[in-house]
Amino acid sequence: MQVKTFDNTMELDLFAAQLFADTLKNKPNATLGLATGSTPVGIYGKIIEMYKNGAVTFKDATTFNLDEYVGLSPEHKQSYAHFMNEQLFNHIDLPKHHAHLPKGTVPDLKAECVEYDRMLSEQPIDIQLLGLGLNGHIGFNEPDQELQGGTHIVELEESTREANARFFDNLEDVPTKAITMGVGSILKADSILLVVKGADKAGIVKQALQGPITTEVPASLLQTHKNVLVLVDREAGRLL
Ligand code: F6R
Repeated sequence: MQVKTFDNTMELDLFAAQLFADTLKNKPNATLGLATGSTPVGIYGKIIEMYKNGAVTFKDATTFNLDEYVGLSPEHKQSYAHFMNEQLFNHIDLPKHHAHLPKGTVPDLKAECVEYDRMLSEQPIDIQLLGLGLNGHIGFNEPDQELQGGTHIVELEESTREANARFFDNLEDVPTKAITMGVGSILKADSILLVVKGADKAGIVKQALQGPITTEVPASLLQTHKNVLVLVDREAGRLL
């Protein structure tokens, strides 16, 4: 794994955005794996700027998001579908039908998992953007004695619900379940860009990159991938 440390977040965001732009320059119909949460917001901002300056187009691209809350429709303000529309999709020329998120409100969630994996196998991800959970999760693959390979339904850890409660009016409103790409699907991406920001992630990013490979720190499985680039700001990278 290669690690790059940045003194300021704006430089990190620009660097990451540039990687996506370069991917699309080399392969206009690339498949991009995307994430939500606070980490990618600045990156999406830079990508939008690049698009507005004519430096990148998404007209032939396809995107797959990592995860969605179970029970929140795409119109729900806290759904990841809504987040992606607000933070990125509404501002670029990606055809709306090329943007995929797992659906958290379909009656048959198991069938949705199978269908998401089928789509992923047809359009393998060229570059996957990941944030890192405080407990070491990637996507919503929470620490456990075993991890699942494909898309699946997961019970969210209390700590994850608490961490994400900042986006909701109160903790009770945070869904208890999510639908997420599995670690196996994530590791199938041709390249992976793990972005970690902030002092509170310094310990977990050290465990993920330099600790033992264990399902108790799902991000540590990234150590087994041949092409992972990790971008950290000074605070997150201070123990590396
Ligand atoms: C989001 C996702 C999560 C987040 C992680 C970090 O789609 O899959 O794994 O990347 O929880 O979240 P932030 O960036 O809010 O600290």
